[in-house]
Amino acid sequence: MAFKMTLSRLLKMKQKGEKITALTAYDYPFARLLDEAGIDIILVGDSLGMAFRGEENTLKVTIDDTAYHTRAVKKGIKRAFLVADMPFLSYHLGIEKTMENAGRLISEGAEAVKLEGAEGVVAAVERLVSAGIPVMGHIGLTPQSIHQLGGFKIQGRHTEAAGKIIEQARMLEDAGAFSVVLECIPVDLAAAITDKLKIPTIGIGAGAYCDGQILVTNDLLGMPSDITPKFVKKYADVSSVVSNAAREYIDEIRTSQFPDAEHSYETPRRLKAI
Ligand code: KIV
Repeated sequence: MAFKMTLSRLLKMKQKGEKITALTAYDYPFARLLDEAGIDIILVGDSLGMAFRGEENTLKVTIDDTAYHTRAVKKGIKRAFLVADMPFLSYHLGIEKTMENAGRLISEGAEAVKLEGAEGVVAAVERLVSAGIPVMGHIGLTPQSIHQLGGFKIQGRHTEAAGKIIEQARMLEDAGAFSVVLECIPVDLAAAITDKLKIPTIGIGAGAYCDGQILVTNDLLGMPSDITPKFVKKYADVSSVVSNAAREYIDEIRTSQFPDAEHSYETPRRLKAI
């Protein structure tokens, strides 16, 4: 196995201009495959509400859900740095509840937590970091604020909105975040933020100049989904692989081709004699 990815290695990657790779996982087999492929960061994203459970947004995901998936993902990881998402409202109901919820994810094996927003979460970021819990920020399109944003839309297109996102990135860095996800913002805005920050920016729909990139694994594998944003590139067509295998299986059972002798147990000779 190559070296274990750590927080300080991630920061060094930014300093050296090495790109950081990140993907989501919600279970053991995917975590293991991504880890073995050499991914740097695995995120147990609250996107699990949509990608794993078929919900229309991420708002129904709870801390119990994230803890459960973090435990499974942890078992598949040897090298990658494991980040778990703090779900909707799990870090807004007072600092004690925030610490308890983050602590739960860490005790399930996460090495850091991710939370969305800036102004409203700076105090939480500071407290988590001072308790030894690394925090990844997330600004731009923040799916937990979907109703406030009016949908899954690109953010920071106008000068004032862009300035606000730059300010939020600075706030998170000053509060001690070790990295920040930039979701669905224009390429030049993401580049400006990446230049201004010492911590790595991880882009999703934020162009090529970020220090790293993240995608929802189901999306890049071409698994079934109700929406496919412009920024998703499909690297495989797993939907066809699964559908074709299932169709072949169904067909072979119906035509008595499966199970054949190769996939059946022979009766021991002793029993045959009875
Ligand atoms: O929940 C998630 O998967 C995320 C990534 C898309 C950044 O937040």
